[in-house]
Amino acid sequence: MNKKERINLIRELESELAYGRFIHTLNVASTAANLAMCYDFDIDKAETAGLLHDCAKCMNLGKMLKICEKAGLELSEIEKKSGSLLHSKAGAELAQSKYGVKDEDILNAIRYHTTGRPGMSLLEKIIFTADYIWARQERKWIP
Ligand SMILES: [Fe+2]
Ligand SMILES: [Fe+2]
Repeated sequence: MNKKERINLIRELESELAYGRFIHTLNVASTAANLAMCYDFDIDKAETAGLLHDCAKCMNLGKMLKICEKAGLELSEIEKKSGSLLHSKAGAELAQSKYGVKDEDILNAIRYHTTGRPGMSLLEKIIFTADYIWARQERKWIP
């Protein structure tokens, strides 16, 4: 992603996400970049995954379901009722269709950032951990 694309992505996320979610997104992206540097991973890739990990989080459940159905995803009954589970899958689809992400590792990092999965890649672990750090931290100051 070049400088202009990165700025456009951040602007788009700012308009799509609620204020608190946007701040969370910036925090996760920044921590993901830091972790990438610590673990000698591609910093841009980690930052991009961090920026996009919650891109579907502020949609209503119906919209998330539509995105997943359009992508032909099989969903469990629990997933169909849970925005907190569904936003990861919908987010991965949106990252691909709307934001043009082709990198499967970034898409998987978005797809599994809520649940984790066995055999996670380094990027998946970075995003999972960065998200966990901030979700924990934000609980202290978000009402
Ligand atoms: Fe999330
Ligand atoms: Fe998150």
